[in-house]
Amino acid sequence: MQPLFLVPGEGIRTEIPSFPGIFRLSGDLLLEEIGQCMALGIKSFLLFPAVPEALKDKGGTYGFAPENFYLQVASQIKDRFPEACLVSDVAMDPYSTDGHDGWVENGGIINDKTLPILGRMALAQAQAGFDMVGPSDMMDGRVQYIREFLDREGFTQTGILSYTAKYASAFYGPFRDALDSAPKSGDKKTYQMNPANRREALREAMLDIAEGADMLMVKPALHYLDIIRLIRDNSEIPVAAYHVSGECAMLIAAAQRGWLDRRRAIEETLLAIRRAGADIVITYFAREYAESLS
Ligand code: PBG
Repeated sequence: MQPLFLVPGEGIRTEIPSFPGIFRLSGDLLLEEIGQCMALGIKSFLLFPAVPEALKDKGGTYGFAPENFYLQVASQIKDRFPEACLVSDVAMDPYSTDGHDGWVENGGIINDKTLPILGRMALAQAQAGFDMVGPSDMMDGRVQYIREFLDREGFTQTGILSYTAKYASAFYGPFRDALDSAPKSGDKKTYQMNPANRREALREAMLDIAEGADMLMVKPALHYLDIIRLIRDNSEIPVAAYHVSGECAMLIAAAQRGWLDRRRAIEETLLAIRRAGADIVITYFAREYAESLS
């Protein structure tokens, strides 16, 4: 599964400084990119919006606004490539002036005030044509909230790829650069998981399954191979692993200096994630890997 960064406008292709070779694309170029990936056999995409600061507010309301470019481009993608599997991002951070995934009050995240916002966001995405919604916010109870919200509105066929075991990681840096979404204050440790915790991942997985998730995700992937294996061995639904921006950027930097053989390092990395038990590998190298195979 290939993650892609979308910006508003036309003809825009800007490289992310901390992520050489990875670009933010406007809708027209993103459609081309998807066409090329499809031809190579990469048919599933995780789409993220880079939202201009002027469109952000405290409640992240642009996330479900009818004129939202992310929703509009998603509809265009599904019109042009109905057989593509398109997965959304459900979280407040791309849209919120606080840069947090949830509603902020007095420096804390208010879990239950966040849920209705996530519900509206997921519904707007389902209406736009996304095949699955991907809650990356890590609020408690959001899978059930979103499932019930979508079902009530008739979107029983829209799936949920839940970010189940998402750790408060140092490896999200290039992604936050790409979206310009770093938290304005504090960190995400009150809602993302403590990297020291293993059994908590299992607890999160059981909760997500009970709440109605269709697929579970472990994130990051490479530093959490044991967690991928743990969840794979203890759940009957597919497990996705997110090889995140910082994990990819390290490899890119080393290869640029001639310290690693890029192609071999990518192949071994993706193989390791697969060996750990991932049914679905989400990686910024998806297209490059497909190219090297063909
Ligand atoms: C936030 C979100 C993050 C990523 C995906 N969704 C970053 C964060 O939690 O701050 C990171 C993905 C990557 O690093 O590639 N909702």
